[in-house]
Amino acid sequence: MLIKEIYNLSIKMGIEADFRGKEGIKKFLERKKEKYEKLSEKEKEEFDKDALENPYLDSRIYHIVQDKEVKKVLTGIDIEPAEILIAKEIGGIDLVIAHHPIGKGLAHLADVMDLQCDVLSFYGVPINIAEGLMNERIEEVARGVNKLNHQRTVDAAKLLKVNLMNVHTPCDNLAAKFLKDLIEKKKPERIGDLINLLKEIPEYKEAMKIGAGPKIFVGAPENRCGRITLTEITGGTEGSPKLYEKMANAGIGTVVAMHQSEEHRKEAQTANVNVVIAGHMSSDSLGVNLFLDELEKKGIEIIPCSGLIRISRIEK
Ligand SMILES: [Fe+2]
Repeated sequence: MLIKEIYNLSIKMGIEADFRGKEGIKKFLERKKEKYEKLSEKEKEEFDKDALENPYLDSRIYHIVQDKEVKKVLTGIDIEPAEILIAKEIGGIDLVIAHHPIGKGLAHLADVMDLQCDVLSFYGVPINIAEGLMNERIEEVARGVNKLNHQRTVDAAKLLKVNLMNVHTPCDNLAAKFLKDLIEKKKPERIGDLINLLKEIPEYKEAMKIGAGPKIFVGAPENRCGRITLTEITGGTEGSPKLYEKMANAGIGTVVAMHQSEEHRKEAQTANVNVVIAGHMSSDSLGVNLFLDELEKKGIEIIPCSGLIRISRIEK
């Protein structure tokens, strides 16, 4: 596979697993096109054209030295200059794939957060409330990533002539769908049952060995789960802390999240919403693994690094 083919596959898989469905994504892109058409010529020049075709602006190709057939990839959750050096040291790496956004993918992280409005609406939170609270938070995240050194890893890749791309939200969509399907199938009744169910997933089993397994942040093992939602697995980063009260009103009993800040945890506790933290690197690994399996099927060798717990689900 060529780099562009690998990238296109990731976007396609992300769309297939997306809460909004193919139709929802089509509408999302159409709205972007409408906005673009209304811009002045000068504004059109400044507009990121990728936004017209790619619903996941936090996932990009950064630097193609040579778009050759990819046989070996180095892939990890956070790729920094150290990992680019590791790729050079190992040798024969055709492409480095990061999970978390870098470069302009990082600068555009807030763009994918709109997805959370649809996820919340899917679980019964009125769309006007979801949009109102999320819009506030999206602006906050956009300001937050503005100050970062976006190009650091991309610059290292350019200097060392390493091909580089990242896949963020498409993989988080895969993780969310995997967990949603499993939970809907097994229907855990109590928080303890939910934790036990998560602990059967190999990525979480591995994470438990280093003390990073699934944990209860709000609630107790004997609490009933009520309606379980996957509102905090995909959609960029944490949403608004003010959402928990609205979620409780919408009939949500338990949130399964990758990670959670203290401010969010306190709000969830006040709203009596149970919170189960599946684990950050492990949940990211789950989504990335589901994508990497497709590359492995095509004969590409995968070398995991930077926190990626590589589990292959390919029957051998
Ligand atoms: Fe992450």
